[in-house]
Amino acid sequence: MKSKERIKKNAEIFTPNTLVNDMLNKLPQEVWSDNKTFCDPACGNGQFLIWVLLKKLAKGHKPLAALQTIYGADIMRDNIQECRLRLLKIISTWEPVTEEHIKAVFQNVVWINMKKYPQGSLQYDFSFKNTPRTKDLVRWMNYIYKENKFDDVELPFVEEQFTPAGCLDLFATEEETPALLNKNRVQEKDVD
Ligand SMILES: C[S@@+](CC[C@H](N)C(=O)[O-])C[C@H]1O[C@@H](n2cnc3c(N)ncnc32)[C@H](O)[C@@H]1O
Repeated sequence: MKSKERIKKNAEIFTPNTLVNDMLNKLPQEVWSDNKTFCDPACGNGQFLIWVLLKKLAKGHKPLAALQTIYGADIMRDNIQECRLRLLKIISTWEPVTEEHIKAVFQNVVWINMKKYPQGSLQYDFSFKNTPRTKDLVRWMNYIYKENKFDDVELPFVEEQFTPAGCLDLFATEEETPALLNKNRVQEKDVD
C-alpha cells in the first residue's frame, strides 16, 4: 500500500486505460510497424508500455520482438518490478516466458537510482546497456514461477482482438499464429 505522501511526492497517479488507448490511437499508423521503439521515461507500473505491447501483439508482431522494442524507467523500484511483471504476464498468455523475455525486460525497463542520478530521468543514461547477470535471470525465473508472481499483478480487461484467440481471426496464417495456440490446436486435434 503506497502512502499518500509517496503518491504526492512522486506524482504516482497512473494513466487510466481508456486515456492510454485514446492517446495511442492518435499516433500515426507507421509507429506500429516492426522494430519501432517506445520509451516511457517515467513508466510507473507500465500503463503505457503494457498497452503498446498489447497493440503490437494484436497487430501480429512476434512476442519477443515486440517486447524488445519497449523501454521504460522509473525512480521507484517497486513500480519497475510491477511493470516488468505485467509485461511478462502478457507475454505468458502468448508463449512460455523464457530467459530471453526476462533479459529483455531487465535491459529495457530499469530502475533509476536517485543517488546515482539525482535529477532522475532528466539525467539518466538512456542507452539501456545493462546486461543482466545469468544468476539474476535464474532468480527471476524462479521468482515468477515458484512464487506465482503473475498472480500478484493486474492487467486490464482486454477485448478479444488483444488476445491470442482474437488475433487468430485477424492474422490467421500459420506463421502469425502464436506458438501457444499452435500447441493448443494440436491438443484439440488429439481430443477429437
Ligand atoms: C504520473 S505517474 C505516470 C506513470 C506512467 N507513465 C503512466 O502514465 O501511468 C509518474 C511516475 O513517474 C515516476 N517519477 C517521478 N519522478 C521521476 C523522475 N525524476 N524520473 C523518473 N521517474 C520519475 C513516479 O515514480 C511515477 O511512477
